[in-house]
Parts: sequence; structure tokens; C-alpha cells
Amino acid sequence: MCGITISKSDRIIYRRFAFVMAYHLSSAPVRFRFAAGLGLLVPRRRLSYVLGIETSCDDTGIAIVDTDGRVHSNVLYSQQEFHTRYGGIIPPRAQDLHRARIEDAYNRCLVEADLRPEQLTAIAVTNRPGLPLSLLVGLRFARHLARKLQKPLLPVHHMEAHALQARMENISAISFPFLCLLISGGHCQLALVRGPGRLTLLGQTLDDAPGEAFDKIARRLRLYVLPQYRAWNGGQAIEHAAQSAVCPDAYDFPLPLAQQRNCNFSFAGIKNNSFRAIRARERLEQTPPDGIISNYSDFCAGLLQAVSRHLMHRTQRALEYCLRTENGLFGDASPTLVVSGGVANNDVIYRNIEHLAGQYNCRSYRPFKRYCSDNGVMIAWHGIEQLLANSAKHLRFDYHNIDIQGSAGFKDSSVEDVTRSAIKCKWIKPLDHLRGRATAEAGHCDA
Ligand code: KG4
Ligand code: ZN
Repeated sequence: MCGITISKSDRIIYRRFAFVMAYHLSSAPVRFRFAAGLGLLVPRRRLSYVLGIETSCDDTGIAIVDTDGRVHSNVLYSQQEFHTRYGGIIPPRAQDLHRARIEDAYNRCLVEADLRPEQLTAIAVTNRPGLPLSLLVGLRFARHLARKLQKPLLPVHHMEAHALQARMENISAISFPFLCLLISGGHCQLALVRGPGRLTLLGQTLDDAPGEAFDKIARRLRLYVLPQYRAWNGGQAIEHAAQSAVCPDAYDFPLPLAQQRNCNFSFAGIKNNSFRAIRARERLEQTPPDGIISNYSDFCAGLLQAVSRHLMHRTQRALEYCLRTENGLFGDASPTLVVSGGVANNDVIYRNIEHLAGQYNCRSYRPFKRYCSDNGVMIAWHGIEQLLANSAKHLRFDYHNIDIQGSAGFKDSSVEDVTRSAIKCKWIKPLDHLRGRATAEAGHCDA
């Protein structure tokens, strides 16, 4: 809002909102004095409703969430099936589909919530990072609504929204600061989260994101020829296929960045190695062009194990970095780890990370599965977090100054310090895929 002129009517709305938030956030006795001072008898707490709009990639999500974290409506139009058919996201087509569905999603959202537009307090919208053509649809729609309804906008960083989502479901248990592992189709990041807009990057992928690797490997494996996986994303299909594995050690996968004592990630090696292994197996089995290798389940289980191991190593180092007495990054808060983003849906990966955190007496959480992947709820909740942190600072009436950003990092970075610390860890082993026990106890299986 710095240096921006706002009209008189905006100022009135703005002041009124600051009052509502101050009232909402105050303790009960203060609230009573507030009300009494105005000669009002206010029987119960006022709730504020925030509309969240998400169009950063291939999901059109619109939701309404209140300041207590209650979801009043959640409309999600996925483009998954369309893009799977064409082997990947085509940005102009994604934009067309967002355009075609956004108004309907908004109307449905209001009907489901049984609210009138005037009852909304603010409109939160993803403006960064993401596919520019997709982000534009959400932002333009949000601007149009904000002007029409004379409501403030709350621009939202998509990855921050993933990071904060678990708090909506568990705000008393997950206090700031906490460590967050963000694993999605476009990102892989470790960050210390101190509040909305206050994330410090500890490490990130140098190439592919894990979801991206899963999607490409699932496609190369041709899991889509199996009817049950036709409409699923790659990660989901790989997780399901892995459940039928009988020999999860049948394939070898590399351990990326083993020599680099930092918290960065790399998935390109695992991906390329996968392509080579699939090709070799296809040759061996003379798999037809529309066929699939016979032991694809074993392959998927091995892949999940390799990805888990890499994620565990980098997260373990980040945990040790945060827990070091000279860093003491958790402060007085009990060590907490949140895993979020589409790949956090994966039970094998989450259980492994949970197991790792447990070895450090660190509590771990992930959002409800329906909120791990992209959705409008997480955007609305991030809007609420902004209001809870400091409502006056975040509300934006200067609509025309808000723009999209295709790529956007976090406020701070400690990546160099993490690298300098070069922490050596005694690795915690992943759980055994078949039996849910530590791998040291696993039996042998001939490929
Ligand atoms: O967070 P998200 O919905 O979108 C981005 O911001 O990228 O994540 C989508 C990614 C996809 O790449 C998909 O393959 C992956 O999440 N994913 C999974 C699972 N469900 C979705 N990966 C592994 N296991 C799953 N069950
Ligand atoms: Zn996402």
C-alpha cells in the first residue's frame, strides 16, 4: 500500500475493516469493552469471510473460508483429464479452460456458502508464482469482483499458501516458526515459516520438482494404458501401482547430491535413470509401443523409495540446521515439521518424513488430503492469515498496482548459510515399503 493514494470511500471501508479485525482478534474482555464503548451489545464474535481464487496452474479453485478456519464452500474444476490426454499442460488451453469456468465456480461458491457477495470481507487471489496465462485469469477476475463489490484484495504467494494450509486445520498445534517441506508439481523447497510473507528458504530443487518427475515417469512408463489410471495424475498412479509391488528392490535408483552437504534437491537424475531403466526392460520384454513393462509395480515402489530417501536426507539436514543451538531457529516453539503440496498426498513419502521427524522429537503434520493439492481454500486461508498477522498492512485497494509474477521466491534465504554449515548427518533409514518397518529389517528379494 506504500505511496498509494486511496479514495475517501476506500478509506472508510478500510477503517471499518481494521476495526472489524481489531475486534475479531481481541480477547473477550477487550471485545466487551469495544462493544460497550460504542453502546452496542454484541452477543458473539463477528466472523469475516474471505473468498480465495486459485488459477496458478491447471485447477480453477474458488472457496470461502472464515476467520475461524471454517470452509463455507470449496469449488474446484480440475483440468487434469484434458491435459493428461495431450501429455502435459498447454498454457493457452489452460487459460481458455480457466476463463470458461471461473465465473461459474464463483457463482457456485456463493450458492454453496449461502452468502451474498456483500458479506465477503476481502478477496484473496494467487498472483505468484505460476503459469502467467493462468495467473492472469484469476487476477483479472479478482480485480473485477473487487471493483464491483468495493472489497480489498489480498495477493497470495501460491507456495506460501501450501505452507500455511495445515494451520487452518490445527492452528493451536502449529505455531510459528515451523519447518516446511513443500513438494509439488512445480516446486521442491525447504523453508522456515515465521508467518505469511515471512518464509526463509533453506534449500530447493536445482532442476525438476518431484511431482513433475512423477508425472513424466508415469507417462514414460505408460501407466495411462491401464484404465484405472487414465484420469489420474502421475504421482497418484505411481503410488497406487506401487501398492502391488512384490519386489521393490528390483531396480536401482541413484541418490542425488550425496556429496553436497546442503538442503538442495535434484530429481533429474532419478528421472533420466528411470527412462533408461524402462527402455532397457522394454527391450528385454519386447514390450509393444502401447504396452507396459511387466513389473511396473516393483518399478514404482523402488522409485517411491528413492524419492523418499532423497527427501528424507535433505529434510534431516534442515532439521539439524534448525535445531543447532547456535541457530535455535524454533525458538521456544516445539519443533514442528509441515509437509505440503500435491506430493504430500503420497502416504509412503509422508510416512517416511513423519518417521524421520519422530527421531528428532519433532511433530509432523500435513493438510487434509483434499487440501494438499491446489485448491481455493488454501488461498482464502492465506488471506485470513494475512489478516490475522496484520490486517491493515495487507489489504489492497490499489488494484491496478497488483500484478502477476510467473516466478517468485521467499522473502529471505539462508541457503548459503546452510551450505557453509556443511552439516554431516547420520542418516535415518526409510521405512520398508512392504512391511512399514525400517529397511535394515527388510528381507531380500531377487529381481
Ligand atoms: O501442488 P499441486 O497440486 O500443484 C502444483 O502446485 O504443482 O501438485 C501437483 C503434483 C502433480 O505433479 C502430481 O503428480 C503430484 O502433485 N501428486 C502426487 C500425488 N498426488 C498428486 N505425487 C505423489 N503421490 C500422490 N499421491
Ligand atoms: Zn501447488
